Amino acid sequence: MRLIIHPDYTGVCRWVACYIAGRITRFAPTAAKPFVLGLPTGSTPLGIYHELISLYREGSLSFAHVITFNMDEYRGLKPDHPQSYNRFMWENFFSFIDIKRDNVNILNGMAADPARECAEYEERIQAAGGIELFLGGIGVDGHIAFNEPGSSLRSRTREKTLSLDTKRANARFFNQNPDAVPASALTVGVGTIMDAREVLLVVSGYNKARALQAVVEGGVSQMWTASCLQLHERALIVADEAATDELKVATVRYFKTIEARQY
Ligand code: PGA
Repeated sequence: MRLIIHPDYTGVCRWVACYIAGRITRFAPTAAKPFVLGLPTGSTPLGIYHELISLYREGSLSFAHVITFNMDEYRGLKPDHPQSYNRFMWENFFSFIDIKRDNVNILNGMAADPARECAEYEERIQAAGGIELFLGGIGVDGHIAFNEPGSSLRSRTREKTLSLDTKRANARFFNQNPDAVPASALTVGVGTIMDAREVLLVVSGYNKARALQAVVEGGVSQMWTASCLQLHERALIVADEAATDELKVATVRYFKTIEARQY
C-alpha cells in the first residue's frame, strides 16, 4: 500500500487528477481497448472532478475512450432526483467532458428487480474487461462504496442497508434529516473493488482520521471495509494532513520517507 500525504485538500485533488490523467494517457485507450474507470460520488471527489475537467479543457486529457462504472446509487431515487448519484455525476463531471453517454454506467436505484440489476452490473464490468482503476472515498465508518461495517469482504454488487453513521453524514444533503436519507443503496461489493487492477482511495479532513487510522494501522476487518486495501496488490491512498491526525508519528514519517524517495 502506498500512502501519499499532501498538506491540504487542494493538493490532494491536483495530485489525484494528474495521476488519473497520466494513467489514462499512458494506457492510450482506443474504441477497441477502452480505459475502464470506477468512480465515486460525495464531497471528496468534487475537487478531483473539477481538476479533471480543467485538464480536459486544456486539451491534455480525453475521455472519448473511457468507460466509467459508478460505485453506488441510492435505492428508490429516480435518476433525475436532486440527490441521486446519477444526477450528481452529470452535474459535476460528465456534462463537462467528452465521455460518450453509452460509456457511462450507473446502477439504477429504481430497478424493479435490484438483485438482477446488480448481477447485470457485474456482468457489464466483466464485459468491459474489468476495472483498470477504481477511485474511491471513505466513510466516517470506514466504508468503501456503501459497504457498511459488517459487509462481507468478498461481497459483490448488491443492495445494502445504510448505517446510522452514513445516514447522519449524508443528512446534510437531505435537509439535515438522517431519516430522509434512503434506507439502502445498490453498491458494488468489496470483492468487486478488489478485482480492479488498481484502487485509489482519497481521504480528506479530520472527520476521516479515525477511519484512516483503522485502514492503515488496524487489521483487515469487516468493521472497516476499506481495510480490504491491505490485501490489494496495487492500492494507493492519497490523504491530506488533517486526515492523518490519528496515525502514529512514525507511520506518517515512514510513508513520507518512501514517497520522498520516489522523486
Ligand atoms: P464524502 O463521502 O466524500 O462525502 O465524505 C465519502 C463516502 O461516504 O464514501
